[in-house]
Amino acid sequence: MNRVKQFFSYAIAKLDINDKMYIEKHLNDDEIALFNKLSIHEQKHSVNVARDVESECRINLVDSNNLVKTALLHDIGKIKVPVNIIDKSIVVILDKITNSKIKELKNVKKIYIHYNHGYEGYKILKKINEDEQILFMVKNHHNAELKDNLELNILRKCDDRN
Ligand SMILES: [Fe+2]
Repeated sequence: MNRVKQFFSYAIAKLDINDKMYIEKHLNDDEIALFNKLSIHEQKHSVNVARDVESECRINLVDSNNLVKTALLHDIGKIKVPVNIIDKSIVVILDKITNSKIKELKNVKKIYIHYNHGYEGYKILKKINEDEQILFMVKNHHNAELKDNLELNILRKCDDRN
């Protein structure tokens, strides 16, 4: 989706009854409690990624059970530092124009979480005993060094286009 269009659609995002049923179908009570702490635009993004992942799995004949759950929880690390959609856009622009040099600003929380929410999400989910494959994918969903993992590639592809 075009980034500008994406910005406006997430700025006014709401979860409808189908989204809520989808979340309840795929997450347990502990996971839902965490999911509800995400900001609404992140919740909507995660549902969109999960639905996209589900159809990619169908096309590629990949078991979608863990992947759909992972897609719903992939950005859960962001509950540590709430970032609104304008902050997020500013960080994305700064990342581009500084060639990711802002990554070094680890004590600016909104910048730290942009680059490290995979790891933070892994730590949060580990506390509720999440499955090893799910933990691995949440932790590494932005790890560009891992290129050959089929499930991770499906998650990333769907994350990028939603
Ligand atoms: Fe992410």
